[in-house]
This record gives sequence, structure tokens and C-alpha cells, in this order.
Amino acid sequence: MRHTKVKDLLNSTTTLQEINAKGWVRTFRNNQFIALNDGSTINNIQCVVDFENTPEEILKRITTSAAVSVTGDLVESKGAGQKYEIQVKKIEILGDSDAEKFPIQPKKHSLEFLRENAHLRVRTNAFGAIMRVRSVLSFAVHQYFQEKGFVYVNTPIITGTDAEGAGEMFKVTTLPAENAPKNEEGNVDFKQDFFGKETCLTVSGQLVAETYAMALGQVYTFGPTFRAENSNTSRHLAEFWMIEPEVAFNDLTDNMDLAEDFIKYVVKYAVDHCGDDLKFLEGRLTDEEKSKPQAERSEMPLLEKLGFVIENNFKRVSYTEAIDILRDSTPNKKKKFSYIINEWGADLQSEHERYLVEKHFKCPVILFDYPANIKAFYMRLNEDGKTVRAMDILFPGIGEIVGGSQREERFDVLVEKMKALGIDEEELWWYLDTRRFGSAVHSGFGLGFERLVLFVTGMTNIRDVIPFPRTPMNAEF
Ligand code: 4AD
Ligand code: MG
Repeated sequence: MRHTKVKDLLNSTTTLQEINAKGWVRTFRNNQFIALNDGSTINNIQCVVDFENTPEEILKRITTSAAVSVTGDLVESKGAGQKYEIQVKKIEILGDSDAEKFPIQPKKHSLEFLRENAHLRVRTNAFGAIMRVRSVLSFAVHQYFQEKGFVYVNTPIITGTDAEGAGEMFKVTTLPAENAPKNEEGNVDFKQDFFGKETCLTVSGQLVAETYAMALGQVYTFGPTFRAENSNTSRHLAEFWMIEPEVAFNDLTDNMDLAEDFIKYVVKYAVDHCGDDLKFLEGRLTDEEKSKPQAERSEMPLLEKLGFVIENNFKRVSYTEAIDILRDSTPNKKKKFSYIINEWGADLQSEHERYLVEKHFKCPVILFDYPANIKAFYMRLNEDGKTVRAMDILFPGIGEIVGGSQREERFDVLVEKMKALGIDEEELWWYLDTRRFGSAVHSGFGLGFERLVLFVTGMTNIRDVIPFPRTPMNAEF
């Protein structure tokens, strides 16, 4: 007999005869009531066992976390809290479980403890909800770009280009760690390596995506990205997923418009399609906020915060204006920032970004026109000769969620910049070809998918929104 998903049973509009459901026991009360969950929804279905006619050996095996199959009728529930329940006629234990040894007990566990049990944490309400929201968001990403006629491009994960400077890279090699062959200079001889050259895991698909935008017009990537920075923060992963659209003929304003429209679309999509999960996560967040000091509490419940982002324009502010605001700010004057802002040209730290978003503007902010020397080589130089057409989108509670720019399309300017930064023109010969053969204004950005999931789920640690996080000193599972 084919089983029906719990979600479909709970959404049924009529009672039903002879249905089958399969799932995992969340709780078993009074030797009679099973709360059954199969992952299709955050909600459990109540299964009422006929304990008088069920053998004692079977009843004993209905334990938290056991996998079971129940057959019976979907009937109107007499209990509060659910419309329907299953009147069980037959129960089969598919997989026994020693409930006492099961790490996830029906009580509140710390997020740290759950991280150590990342293979089982998805059986909790919170992680089930987070992972369903993550899935819906990734579908929304594709739907947004596909509806707009963008072409999805799979850029390589193994790359021979180490020029973007977006972060430290992980080496990819088949050479032995000990006694690797050496060249005449005494360095590792990568000519003898698998690819005949030094290769790494990609830090971004942008440079290759640009070559595709120069033929297909509008493209996007959505794939894993790797950074070997030793930054053990609640916003950084060594392996994360990034979405990178790249669009021919778009200037920086078009780029900002696209990013803002895109973010609003996917957040709205999640709100429209993840009602039960977001309601649960809102409750979780509200509980968590209660344990914080008043000053650190978020003013809005989760769904209101998401609605706010969907409905309001992001504030667009130049780097220069932002520096003025920060220089005059109370935490700067009182030396509360770890990095005091004195001069134009300073790189912004996340404390500054969060001040702008959370305290000053109290809404998402797009900062643009950054000093050239704190941004990547490929960004379009402005007429002032000292700023570039960069933009970062800053979100409350998150900081930077998007980084992007209009690209330098002028061959000579780009080459000069590369020379100044010591970037090997020969290594990037193919990138420079886009500027040799039919170059055009174009722009793009990268959105860190986990930071988006953090924002939408109201979680605070990035390790809790990816199934198996990769961070310094941690690659378990
Ligand atoms: O600002 P980033 O480094 O920009 C780029 O890589 C450009 N090539 C993007 C482009 O223009 N196509 O990274 C983009 C975004 C950041 O804003 C952040 O959201 C996320 O990627 N990100 C990380 N997310 C998790 N862990 C990390 N270590 C991250 N580093 C960046
Ligand atoms: Mg950035």
C-alpha cells in the first residue's frame, strides 16, 4: 500500500478510509497517542493506537525516533489542536530505536549540542523547518532568474585561476603530501600534478560567468564556493553556496535594482510558501530574544521583519556619505568601535556595517562607490579616479549579504590596474579576451545563500542553516 504524506493527510478536506502513513515517532503518550512526523511538514499527525488489541511487544517498540508504518482511517480528531488524526488499525515497526540512547530527546537542546549531532538535528522541529525553508529559497532563486530569461551556468569548482583575491584558496592536488616532486628551484613541481598546474577550489564563479554574460546576455550561477580564511565567526563558512548573476549592458544602478528586486522576490516566496515553518521559527526567535538583554533584542518579530524588507526600499548610500555618518556617530566618538573611523579610505568592518543598518538607517542599506584600493581589480573605475562602481548590500543582523559591482570593461584601464596590483595578465588571458572582442558595460553580484537563509529563518549562526557546516577545525560528517 502506497503511503500518504502527513502534510497531505493534515490538509485533507474529508475523512478517509484505509490510509497508510510512514514516519518517525516524535512522542508516544499514554501507550496510545503517537505524534508522527515524516518531514513533509513541521506538524505531526496524531495516531491513536488501539492499545487493548495491540500486542504488548509491539507497544514497547513504539519509542521516540523509531520508524513506523501505520494503517487505518483518517478521522476527525476529538482532541484539541488538530482537525484529523489516524485511528490506527495496524502498526508495523519499520526500524526500532533505543529511545534512551537517542541523542535528541523531546526537550530543548542547545544549538551547540545539536551541531555536534548534525546528522540527527534535522529530526527536530527547528532544523526540519530551516532545511525546508532553505530548499524553498533555492527553488525561488531559480524561479526568479528563469522567469526573467537568465541562463543558469555551472561554473567550474576546480579552478586554475587564483586572481580574484576574494579569499584564501584550498589547494586541489593528487601529489603526495610527503615527498612531493620538486622542480629545479626546489618548489613543488605542479607540472607533475593531475592538471599539470596548480589548482584550487573556486572562491567565486564570477570571472568565468562574465565570459558567458558576454554571449548569453543574462546568466547566473548557483553553486558551492570555498574560502580557506581562518575566520571563525557566526557569518563565515569555509564551504558556502553563492548565487552570482552577471548581466551584459547593466550599469551599477541596474545592478542594484536587480539585487533588490531579487532579494524581495525570494523572501516573499518563502513567506508565501513556508507559512508553518516560519511561524514556528518566529516563535523560536521570540523565545531566544527573551533571554537577551533588552538593548540587544530585535524590535520586530520574524515575519514582520521579512514583511518590512519586502515592502520598503533599500536605502542607497555612497561610501563617502557612510564614512561621514560613521565618523560623527556616538560609538565612534566614544571609541566604542574596535576600529575607529578617522579617514576616508578606511575599510568598513562588520561593526560599522551593522551600525549603519541597525542603528542609523534601520533598514537594508546598499553602499556604493567604494575606494578603489579596498576593492577587487575588476571593478569599474569612476571618473574621480579614486572610487570604483562597487556595491555591498547590508542587512540587519547579518551585515554584508551581497557584494557586487559594475565591471571594468575598458581593456587599457583593466590591464593598467592588473599591472599595478601584480596580477598576471598571462594567467587571465581568457578574461582579458572579453575586453578584446566586443567588450561592453556589464555588472553582477554575489549573494551568500546561507546569509540569506540566516535572515529568513531568524537564526543567528551560519552553522545552523547549512546541513553539515565546514569551518576551521571542523569537517565532521
Ligand atoms: O563579496 P564577495 O567576496 O564577492 C564575490 O565573491 C564576487 N565575486 C561576487 C560577484 O560580484 N559575482 O562574496 C559575495 C557574498 C558576500 O556578500 C557574502 O554574502 C557571501 O558571499 N560570503 C560568504 N558567506 C559565507 N561564508 C563566507 N566565508 C563568505 N564569504 C562571502
Ligand atoms: Mg564582499
